[in-house]
Amino acid sequence: MKDYIDKITHCMSVAELEKVRVEIFGKKGILASGFAKLKELDGDEKKEFAANLNKMRDELNECIESKKSKLLKAEILTKMQKDAVDVTLFNEPVASGALHPVMDVMDRIIEYFVSQNFSLETGPLIEDDFHNFEALNLPKYHPARDMQDTFYLNDNRLLRTHTSPVQIRKMLSTQPPIRMIAPGTVFRRDFDLTHTPMFHQVEGLVVEPSDNVSFANLKSMLEGFLKHMFGDVKVRFRPSFFPFTEPSAEVDISCIFCHGEGCRVCKHTTWLEVLGCGVVDPNVFSAVGYKNVSGYAFGLGVERFAMLLHRVPDLRSLFEGDLRLLEQFR
Ligand code: DAH
Repeated sequence: MKDYIDKITHCMSVAELEKVRVEIFGKKGILASGFAKLKELDGDEKKEFAANLNKMRDELNECIESKKSKLLKAEILTKMQKDAVDVTLFNEPVASGALHPVMDVMDRIIEYFVSQNFSLETGPLIEDDFHNFEALNLPKYHPARDMQDTFYLNDNRLLRTHTSPVQIRKMLSTQPPIRMIAPGTVFRRDFDLTHTPMFHQVEGLVVEPSDNVSFANLKSMLEGFLKHMFGDVKVRFRPSFFPFTEPSAEVDISCIFCHGEGCRVCKHTTWLEVLGCGVVDPNVFSAVGYKNVSGYAFGLGVERFAMLLHRVPDLRSLFEGDLRLLEQFR
């Protein structure tokens, strides 16, 4: 028995211990052969032998169990040490990202209009002639289409040249009152200091089922918006032309760079043009089947706002992905 206690004590792993256990307790183990011998004995001798065997069985069993729990603990400990991660080790610093300045300004514009109860609408980037032009009072072959150089697809569809078609989609799918903005990407065949073929606009449309909406409403709403974006600026409405509004206006703010002195950015006019707007043309309402309504609309270029707010001189640089520029907006 002492041999077996030694064997158990010297086991180095749970697997090894299991082998010893089988040697002792298995069908062909020493205990089994001991109990087999019982048959050959009688009386007191048998009793004593049986008692000894039972005692031996209990002691060996206890010895194995306690060794097993020690080995298991040791194995878990080794595994934990092997798998441990040193969380105090230094790592390469990871640079944190930031919103692109155009998206940042877009978010600020959206936040303002959402705070003024405007809903957010979207439309497809690939449009058809009806939504992008015709319903907006730009009939086929009308010279006003020259205002926007368009990318056409082979099937007569086109990349939308402005976010105004979202006005049409909204009006066709719902009844007034409408109070919406439509931020999004637009495309034109243009590429110079102040134009890229892809850029972003925010469109606005307010329609009431009455004749209550006037140019005065449009003016006060836009003045509030522009002061929110640019601070304490003067706002000026200049008569202009857009096919979808009548009357139409372009809106200028007093130059935020020279404050009236005249500089390169405002081309010495002391004014910066920031958006287009107007009272919705009756032809647009007819195209969507609206009667007895009134409304105003506006559209702005987000890159233009970003250039002015962040003083970026060349629009194209916003889309070059140059980290030296982008890191300045973190
Ligand atoms: N869609 C015009 C453009 O891309 C911008 C615009 C001007 C939108 C006046 C309007 C508006 O809704 O009333 O140049």
